[in-house]
Amino acid sequence: MKLVGRVAELRAARADWGRVGRVPTMGFLHDGHLSLLRAARAVNETVVNSLCVNPTQFAPSDVFASYPRDTPRDLELAAASDVDVVFMPSEYDVYPPGFDTWVEVGALASRWEGEYRHGHFRGVTTVVMKLFQMIQPDAAYFGEKDYQQLVVVKKMVADLNLPLEIVACPTVREPSGLALSSRNAYLSVERRRAASILYRAMLRAQELASSGVSESSVLLAEMQEVLAQEFAADLDYLAIVDRESLEPLDRVVSQARMVGALRFDGVRLIDNLELTLRSA
Ligand code: PAF
Repeated sequence: MKLVGRVAELRAARADWGRVGRVPTMGFLHDGHLSLLRAARAVNETVVNSLCVNPTQFAPSDVFASYPRDTPRDLELAAASDVDVVFMPSEYDVYPPGFDTWVEVGALASRWEGEYRHGHFRGVTTVVMKLFQMIQPDAAYFGEKDYQQLVVVKKMVADLNLPLEIVACPTVREPSGLALSSRNAYLSVERRRAASILYRAMLRAQELASSGVSESSVLLAEMQEVLAQEFAADLDYLAIVDRESLEPLDRVVSQARMVGALRFDGVRLIDNLELTLRSA
């Protein structure tokens, strides 16, 4: 495995790499990231894992400095996952002094997470675009765990005619159902079990939809009842939305997506799940 830090080095080597699959991460790798690396490994000649804690995607309320980091462990996990290249650009390479060009997706990025984390998606799309320019991958792998991020990145790729494929990979969960996230490190094992309440609420809605319940108000009320069982859960938003436009739906016609975010013991957790209506 090769460790690359400079863009010039990456550019010089890129021509020999054949089909490149890129897995973008902010490090502190967990099984969710490893599943993306496996998906990339299966079909690409070269797998590039970028490790970059991106300062511009942290809204003022988020704490960039305390974001969990463990580079030696990340490198071990990447090597064990048969990654060919780990790209760790310096902050100087990504945001040189005077940097002032931003990539911003409109309506899709402004609701849900966009309302709670101002500027977050502008930071994500800017760094994702910059790293696409540096690595020039043929495919990039994103987890469905960050569903809105996935939809926003797909929109950027389509709108800007970027010549690459975005591959969506299923959410990986702890045995309790809690979606894997680097932020789970802030919670004890015991609290993580309790924090899976959002997922359990979504499973309840899915159960109802499977039995034919289609009104969003009914499904949301049922989810709220499940969430009320956990006093530590402080909900930011919960919605049933169109899978592509992310617009709220009054009624599920065949499929929709549940999206939600809550604060649990002060840790912000997001989740989402497909909702499939039983056909009559
Ligand atoms: O999902 C993440 O880890 C980040 O938002 C990403 C895509 C690596 C951009 O910094």
